[in-house]
Amino acid sequence: MNHVLTASQFSRKELLDIFLVAEEMEKILQKGKSELAKGKILATLFYEPSTRTRLSFETAMLRLGGGVISETDVTYSSQTKGEILADTIRIVANCADIISLRSRTAGDAEKASEASSVPIINAGDGAGEHPTQSLLDLFTIQKHFRLGDEPLRVTFVGDLKYGRTVHSLATMIRNFENIKISFVAPQEVQIPEKYLMKGDTVQTELTDEVLKQSDIVYATRIQKERFEDGILYEQVKDAFVLDIQKVSLMRENAILLHPLPRVNEITLGVDALPQAKYFEQARNGIPIRMALITQLLGLV
Ligand code: CP
Repeated sequence: MNHVLTASQFSRKELLDIFLVAEEMEKILQKGKSELAKGKILATLFYEPSTRTRLSFETAMLRLGGGVISETDVTYSSQTKGEILADTIRIVANCADIISLRSRTAGDAEKASEASSVPIINAGDGAGEHPTQSLLDLFTIQKHFRLGDEPLRVTFVGDLKYGRTVHSLATMIRNFENIKISFVAPQEVQIPEKYLMKGDTVQTELTDEVLKQSDIVYATRIQKERFEDGILYEQVKDAFVLDIQKVSLMRENAILLHPLPRVNEITLGVDALPQAKYFEQARNGIPIRMALITQLLGLV
């Protein structure tokens, strides 16, 4: 593995290998930290807002004993003076051993990889993909279910058009058998055709029946920042609100995931329900990103 650019680059074996390394990283985290990446530098280039992805990448590198440099606001980047991304990457690759990039436009991570002499990790490229989020999503699912061995019904809810985490997870989870996928969204933000496969269900209503039958409900925020039409955003923004009454319809051992941040789509009261696993899911980002950093740098 030279770069992490898209969910589709991973085979089932590669995914399971990453999860095994992530489990080792969990042991390191329990102890505190390691020196596996001592002397190595991670650059986090985040040209769109982020809380958990950037901080979990940086925490991952610090817990591995490495160092971090960062550009967290495009306003203060030379890109604001007109520098193209490829040139920025060439320069940063002189400073760092590995780069985690969040950018505004789908395909940026791939372009960056073409210019880079060090590994690039796609930390979200516009409405394109967010493969490291999907790795932690799948790692979370694997902790609750026998992925590939038992039949699982996954329901994606919310902004499926612009939701890059959905694009990546819907792709990545298909490495495993016995997965039945339902996409539930208003027509205006329904899943793009290219992510659909035979046997998938596409719906515009989140019915009680769907909630009762799902093993995994993956809720997402309506991505206000991607809408050109503010009126359209207002029409769809509260299309699906998962409250205590709705989530209680899910089986007790079913899980509710969300890449976060949430806005209105999961009410605060839901956090106390047994199905709510989104904070556990976010926590899994650190061992997963430690695993990726060590693999990409050839440290494990
Ligand atoms: N899930 C996720 O990408 O969160 P941030 O935007 O806070 O990084």
